[in-house]
Amino acid sequence: MDPLVAAIDQGTSSTRFLVFNAKTAELISHHQVEINQSFPKEGWVEEDPREIMQSVHECIERTCEKLCKLNIDVSNIKAVGVTNQRETTLVWDKDTGEPLYNAIVWLDLRTQSTVERLINKAPGRNKNHLRHKTGLPISTYFSAVKLRWLLDNVDEVHEAFLSQRAMFGTVDSWIIWCLTGGKNGGVHCTDVSNASRTMLFNIHTMDWDPELCRYFDIPMEILPSVRSSSEIYGWMKSGSLAGVPISGCLGDQSAALVGQMCFNEGQAKNTYGTGCFLLRNTGTKPVISDHGLLTTVAYKLGKDEPACYALEGSVAIAGAVVRWLKDNMGMVQSSSEIEKLAAAVGTSYGCYFVPAFSGLYAPYWEPSARGIICGLTQFTNRNHLAFAALEAVCFQTREILDAMNQDSGVPLTQLKVDGGMTSNRLLMQLQADILCIPVVRPTMSETTALGVAMAAGAAEGVGVWSLSPGQLPHVTSERYEPQINPEESEYRFARWKKAVQKAMNWET
Ligand code: G3P
Repeated sequence: MDPLVAAIDQGTSSTRFLVFNAKTAELISHHQVEINQSFPKEGWVEEDPREIMQSVHECIERTCEKLCKLNIDVSNIKAVGVTNQRETTLVWDKDTGEPLYNAIVWLDLRTQSTVERLINKAPGRNKNHLRHKTGLPISTYFSAVKLRWLLDNVDEVHEAFLSQRAMFGTVDSWIIWCLTGGKNGGVHCTDVSNASRTMLFNIHTMDWDPELCRYFDIPMEILPSVRSSSEIYGWMKSGSLAGVPISGCLGDQSAALVGQMCFNEGQAKNTYGTGCFLLRNTGTKPVISDHGLLTTVAYKLGKDEPACYALEGSVAIAGAVVRWLKDNMGMVQSSSEIEKLAAAVGTSYGCYFVPAFSGLYAPYWEPSARGIICGLTQFTNRNHLAFAALEAVCFQTREILDAMNQDSGVPLTQLKVDGGMTSNRLLMQLQADILCIPVVRPTMSETTALGVAMAAGAAEGVGVWSLSPGQLPHVTSERYEPQINPEESEYRFARWKKAVQKAMNWET
């Protein structure tokens, strides 16, 4: 039997465990569990760290049972990788092993006033004041301000810090710490791709930066150690996979870049999950954007390998707009119904929906923007709204792609896509139409998990997966060609941009 490699994919909306054949990259078995989000106040988004870990254990054990039913011995699993929603911030007690507060999810807006204060006191009120070190604008999105909020507002966190019991981590750190033993010797680490989303990490020195930590008043002793994305961090301590090394760690968007085999400078992918994230590999040099994109560490595939960087366009709300129509508006019973509703009309009939629920991310970085729906008439019905919601995802991607093309000077001639929403064929066609370039979707859509499985399998001491260019797995794909003329596309995009201006200035 060929060796197998497994991936834990802990996203904003669900947790998955997937097992791949390390020779063929074939997906052998998997299990998925939804994750609850809570919204305790307007703009706040939290998840329960215990529920996250329960979902990880459940997914591992259910998948192992499925493998047994297929007569596959779980001892063939040679390594486990962890990929995760990035920026989401946790603090736990290293003595009890218990979280000290809910995880503050990346979308959360509670730090908006802190962010505004920091920007106001920055030289020239420049939100890009720290970009030279971090690659990021000052924003509610990243971990530093969330961690500051926890230290300032949660007594348990403050007390644990004073008595040297507090540990900070993003979701990868929490999972790896728990799986490698937790309070009984768990490994407290993260990888460079996740660290680069905290705003405390210097993307040039590849380490936590004392000056940034002073700026946010974050004690450095609570931070995890920073490791490469592909090395053995520790071993699974319990369950069906006890003794298997955990040897891959990548933020989910970096993992998708690897899973789409975008190893060369200029290659790009767009992943449609809760949000939507377009990353373009810029090689071993960080490129600072002039058009509102982030500079991020894409991956470092081994202790002695160089780090690779990416330009990233982050859109906060993609799949989340469909979930909002389902959960908040009760418009559909299941997310997949949106495609049918939208396809029944094939147009928004002049209705534009800007889902700026968490402000607007790239390229605007405007935390005070709020969602709007405009262009309504008595003719508008839920079908048109469903279409407008899908079209919003495509317009947001178009804004990112335009910024990316302007920054690099070399326009993308096709867009590789992946993520849950790409099973929506209407969305894929609409995306090709709005971008005026072909959209290419791999037949195996679990690219994020594949990417971190590759990193885990290739780690020194595991060595069951080769990342040499000639030995990468062959991926079959499906292609969507633009079907409307560019003038029509430009006309709709121009109207979308007007709607965005209204979302940004809705109070004035
Ligand atoms: O930066 C947030 C991102 O990592 C979340 O990804 O797949 O949960 O939308 P996803």
